[in-house]
Amino acid sequence: MAVAIFLLILVVGSVIFTFVSPWWFTDIASNWGGIDTTVLITFWVCGVVFVAVGLFMAYSTWKFRHREGARADYEPENPRLELGLTIVTAIGVVAMLAPGLLVWDDYVNPPADAQEIEVLSQQWRWSFRFPGEDGVLGTVHVKNIRSDNPFGMNPNDPAGEDDVLVAGNRVQLPVNRPYKVLLRSNDVLHDFFVPEFRAKMDAVPGMITYFWFEPTKEGDYEILCAELCGKGHYTMRGFVDIVGQEDFDAWLAAQPTWAQMKAGVTPKAYSALARRGREVAEANGCFACHSLDGSQVVGPTWQGLWGAETALADGSSITVDESYVLESVRAPAAKLVEGFAPVMIAYDAEIISDDDLAALAAFLREDTELAEASTP
Ligand code: CUA
Repeated sequence: MAVAIFLLILVVGSVIFTFVSPWWFTDIASNWGGIDTTVLITFWVCGVVFVAVGLFMAYSTWKFRHREGARADYEPENPRLELGLTIVTAIGVVAMLAPGLLVWDDYVNPPADAQEIEVLSQQWRWSFRFPGEDGVLGTVHVKNIRSDNPFGMNPNDPAGEDDVLVAGNRVQLPVNRPYKVLLRSNDVLHDFFVPEFRAKMDAVPGMITYFWFEPTKEGDYEILCAELCGKGHYTMRGFVDIVGQEDFDAWLAAQPTWAQMKAGVTPKAYSALARRGREVAEANGCFACHSLDGSQVVGPTWQGLWGAETALADGSSITVDESYVLESVRAPAAKLVEGFAPVMIAYDAEIISDDDLAALAAFLREDTELAEASTP
């Protein structure tokens, strides 16, 4: 009897909880209402089955409870019952899977007028590329990626010259237009997810994945990485602002093209040691988190780093010098810069040798000194 009552409370409580709990979908801001419908169909199929099975169990434990002298019937086969259960189960499974196939077919077949945009993912940030005036994204290759070519643009492809490169984690898109989103990853598996768009797709190293969507509501939406991609996974966020066409045009015009980015790179007079230090930083992926142009990425920028007074998370402050740089590579969490999460891994001498580390420090010092020398 107690078990039957417990099962009854479980079923009734679950149903009440489902309908009074505050957790539900966010307001949808894209064309993918069909995805909500498929989720709801699955929800209702599972819900009805859960209630039916729960109530049947409660009834059975009460009805067939132990009684002195009662004997169970032996009934190993019941073709009618088996056929009935098979048909009902099959209908339930088809109802859950078939709508998803239809929506998926739509999801990966963008309309012909969809505007292509590219989302580049890497540990632990997002960046974006627009095709520029020619409407064609230039070719890219991961082997082209360097600190002055973060998107891996093919330097010999004229189609890439006018590509607009958005290195920050914030992108704008005009409302009520379809986009084909192409996804790349520079390192490991990530997953681009904007809950309000109901749109989600893995970014897989070595291939380009895609989906399409049409934003239907202006607003500022958060991009999440929905694939555990390393210890900084939780920091891998971005924003997509859905705006009117005029705002978008003004914003896009302010972003650099690949040609402008190339022209803006002024060769500085680094020593051989500092140049090696820069290669060390490139080879170890430091620029994925530390910018040289002052932009805030995952970690503190390296612009003007040397000799700077830096506030630390524990409330103290420190002047950046050689010993601080060395410690920050070997034991990054020891003196954490204020406002940054302790996501950097420690690089021991097996990964970056003492010599390479000294070269890296030389690069940081000369980068600051050369920048100061060139400022009037
Ligand atoms: Cu990228 Cu999680």
